[in-house]
Amino acid sequence: MSPEATTSTPLVAVIMGSKSDWETMQHADAKLTEFAIAHECRVISAHRTPQLAGEFASGAAERGIEVLICAAGGAAHLAGVFAAHTTLPVLGVPMKSDALNGMDSLLATVQMPAGIPVGTLAIGKPGAINAALFAIAILANSRPELRAALEEFRKTQDQQVRSTTLP
Ligand code: RP5
Repeated sequence: MSPEATTSTPLVAVIMGSKSDWETMQHADAKLTEFAIAHECRVISAHRTPQLAGEFASGAAERGIEVLICAAGGAAHLAGVFAAHTTLPVLGVPMKSDALNGMDSLLATVQMPAGIPVGTLAIGKPGAINAALFAIAILANSRPELRAALEEFRKTQDQQVRSTTLP
C-alpha cells in the first residue's frame, strides 16, 4: 500500500488555524503518512497571523508544495485567504465548532466568490481524511505509483465492507 516517498521535500502542507484543530487534522496527517507522502503540518491563522498566512501561501509553490490543505473553525477564512495568495489547489476542511456544530465553519469555507476556488470537504474527521485522499489523487495525476496505491486502498476498503458481519 505505501509507495516509497521519492523526496523529502513536502508536497502537501496541512495548515490549521489553531492547535485545537490537531485532534481532527491528525487524521489527515495519518492518511498522508500511510501513503508515504512527504508533507508538513503547521498552525497558521488567517486572523491571528495574517501576514504569515499570506507569506506562506505566496511562497508555497516555489518551495515545491503541490497541494494545500487548510483547516479552520468558526469564522473559517483560512482556506479562502490561502487560495487568494496562490494558484495551487487549496482544499478546505471545516472544523466542528462548539457554538454552531461546524455549520459556521462549513459556510465560511465553502462560500467563496467566483474566481478564487476552494475545494471544500466535509466537516470534521471525514473531511480531514478525504482532504488527504483528495490531495493524493491530485498528486497521482503525475505519479502512477500513487494511482496504484489509491486503487489498492479502494480495493481493500471494498473487501472490508463486503466482509462486514453484523451481530
Ligand atoms: C479557528 O478558531 C481555529 O481554526 C479553531 O478551529 C477555532 C478556535 O481556535 P482556538 O480558540 O481553539 O485557538 O481560528
